[in-house]
Amino acid sequence: TDKYAVLGNPIEHSMSPLLHEFFAQKTGQDLSYGRILVETGTFEKTVRDFFKNGGRGCNVTVPCKLDAYKLADSLSDYAKAAGAVNTLKVMEDGSIYGDNTDGRGLVYDLKRLSCPLADARILIIGAGGAAKGILLPILNEAPKEIVIANRTVSKAQSLSSLYSDKVKGCGFDELEGSFDLIINASSTSLSGELPPIKDEIIEKAQAVYDLMYSKTALTTFTQKALSLNVPKVSDGFGMLIGQAILSFELWRGVKPDFDSAIKKFRPC
Ligand code: ATR
Repeated sequence: TDKYAVLGNPIEHSMSPLLHEFFAQKTGQDLSYGRILVETGTFEKTVRDFFKNGGRGCNVTVPCKLDAYKLADSLSDYAKAAGAVNTLKVMEDGSIYGDNTDGRGLVYDLKRLSCPLADARILIIGAGGAAKGILLPILNEAPKEIVIANRTVSKAQSLSSLYSDKVKGCGFDELEGSFDLIINASSTSLSGELPPIKDEIIEKAQAVYDLMYSKTALTTFTQKALSLNVPKVSDGFGMLIGQAILSFELWRGVKPDFDSAIKKFRPC
């Protein structure tokens, strides 16, 4: 039996073992998938021990994604652009490949929900690690324009400067016009806060997507969008499933079905 696991701290809340065991069962793959708590400063040793003992790959979550990026012998373009790795794979020659499936998982879910992407004007709220991880996969969908708005304006500007003129960075009070799709990539929903975006801007969107999700309730941002009657509103649960599917496919060469997973695991 091939061994996989998710590594992070905390880790007991992670749904990854449930998802991957479900995928394995559905696709007839013989594997086990565990959880490994990583104590501060021990990521490299923990991963190397796991691979020495039969581990073939792993997912990496907070706060170890940068450590995984540094540890990988080679990186996908998505991992390079994100500056972070959420999936490691032991290759045939024993080297370690690092990928980041978060952003492609998001795009997978946005397409499933028929959210505007190609030729769309897209607003990304936040310029931290989460925002950085989704830019390249969204750009691949040929949007008309991406505006990154952030509380610390300089972070939005330096992130946007890594990409073509299609990507612009600004502060919240500089936002103007209408956006087809608004993605909340700030951590505001974690603390029940809202980014300071005017209602008029949210109201005009066709779709609002919050990268966060909560097992028990709507996120503050999706709640806000629903109250303003935005036609399509979604939290990041589908992104979680999407990134897991893409990791599984990288390891096993088969792609699990999205709909059956979301039906089984959607918390509310
Ligand atoms: P993550 O990896 O989740 O992106 P991060 O890198 O710490 O975490 O980034 C958090 C993002 O949420 C940042 O864009 C942050 O804005 P700043 O760069 O100005 O700090 C944003 N954020 C967090 N709390 C916020 C708040 N109350 N209002 C607006 N933006 C907030």
